[in-house]
Formats: sequence, structure tokens, C-alpha cells
Amino acid sequence: MAATSSPPTHVAIVMDGNGRWASRRFLPRVAGHKQGVESLQRCARACAQRGIAVLTVFAFSSENWRRPAEEVSGLMDLFTYALGREVDQLCKEEVRLRFLGDRSGLPDRVVQSIVDAESRTAAYTALQLNVCFNYGGRWDIVQAARSLQERGVPITESTLQEALSLSHVPDPDLVIRTGGEQRISNFLLWQSAYSELYFSDKLWPDFDERELDNALLTYAQRQRRFGKTPLQAIVDSPRLAPESAGDAP
Ligand code: FPP
Repeated sequence: MAATSSPPTHVAIVMDGNGRWASRRFLPRVAGHKQGVESLQRCARACAQRGIAVLTVFAFSSENWRRPAEEVSGLMDLFTYALGREVDQLCKEEVRLRFLGDRSGLPDRVVQSIVDAESRTAAYTALQLNVCFNYGGRWDIVQAARSLQERGVPITESTLQEALSLSHVPDPDLVIRTGGEQRISNFLLWQSAYSELYFSDKLWPDFDERELDNALLTYAQRQRRFGKTPLQAIVDSPRLAPESAGDAP
């Protein structure tokens, strides 16, 4: 079977397992999220080093408001603190940050730190890091459809795609979920239609370069067919069909 020839352009991650990482150490759950920020920094650096252009992570879902108030406010504080502390480093590493999600429900201090981080990193291109915060795949589809309706634009596959919050990058080639669960949990519902999925038993704070490489190796061994037969997928692959090189990822 012909395997994927190039590394993924876009990797997306559900960073699951912070709470369990903390509980196993008799620490409060927010300590796991703190460690999760360290893991995200390591992962972003590793992605850039491996030539991955886009990393999208799920940091807070529309449904995470249902968690205990203490954990939600701990996450909001951590998010504001981590952004304040990390943006200088992200600038040094030329990482561009963008945030996807519903900002209307967020505390002002969080929105302010998002706006600052986005504007300070807007010129960078080494890695595009998209952080989904107060995000849900269903929310994204609904907000896209509403925005088309308000502008009187007919809803087609391409107009809807353009109105989604991740329209500035290609769809993810590889979606990773850590923490041992095997579900999508309302993450990038539209964009993951043809993504390869990789489920890791590692808890997010323990997700390191080695496990990233395992995911990339598994991805490299997959054949992406986009609805075609295995033979068609080989014949139409960019390596064998130069004229279609721009069409197929
Ligand atoms: C899921 O683990 C993780 C989250 C809900 C939060 C992830 C957030 C971060 C890693 C911080 C991101 C910060 C910035 C600045 C981008 P869980 O709590 O569901 O773990 P469990 O399944 O073990 O309970």
C-alpha cells in the first residue's frame, strides 16, 4: 500500500488527560493544566522543527463551562497568566497565535490577553498556532451559517468553508487525541472530514517528542484516499501526477 509521502501540513490536537495527570499526583486539577501548558510549548517547538506549518489545539470547549467553578476560573487565570508570560518566547520563535471560539462569553481580561497576543505575533510565520478557546465544532458551523445568512450569501460547501473560523489554513491532515479516549468531542467537526486520526494513551502533560514522532510515523504509513480506490489514490498522488500536484494534499 502506498503511504503518505510528506509530513502533515496541519496537525490538530485534543489535549486530554491533564486532570488525571494531576489526580495521580494528589494535586489539584489545575496543576495538570499548568503542566499542560509546558507540554504545549514543547509540542509547538517540536512541530516547527519537523516542518509542520500549522498546529491547532483544543484548550477550552464550549462544554467545559460545565466543570466545577473553581476549575473554570483556574483555567481562565492560567490562560491569561500563560499568555502574558509566553508571548515573548513565542515572538522569539516566530510563532503566530490565533484564537478560535466565541469571545462573547469570556471575561474581559481573557479577551484582552487574546487580542494582545494575536496582534503581537501577527507578523510571524515559523508556525501558525491556533488555540480553540470557548470553541465547539457545532458552534463554528452555526456561526458560519448565520454570518452567510446575514450577508445574504447562498450556503454552499465552499461559502460555508470560507465562513468557518479555521478558513485561513488547510484542513488538518492529522488529528491527535491524547489521554486514551477515542472520540472527537465536538472538535473541528467540519474540518476533520478527511483527517487521519491518532489516539494516544499518553496523558497530555506526558506527550513528548517521542510520542509526536510515533503519531507522525503512523500518519506516514496511512494511505489517504479522499473517497478514491487504493489504485486511483496511488496514480493520482502528487509524486506520480505532476499536473495534479496542487490539488491533492
Ligand atoms: C483536558 O484535560 C484539558 C483541558 C480541558 C484544558 C487544556 C488546556 C491547556 C493545556 C492550557 C492551554 C493554555 C494556553 C495558554 C493555550 P482534562 O481536564 O479533561 O483531563 P482528564 O480527562 O484527565 O480529566
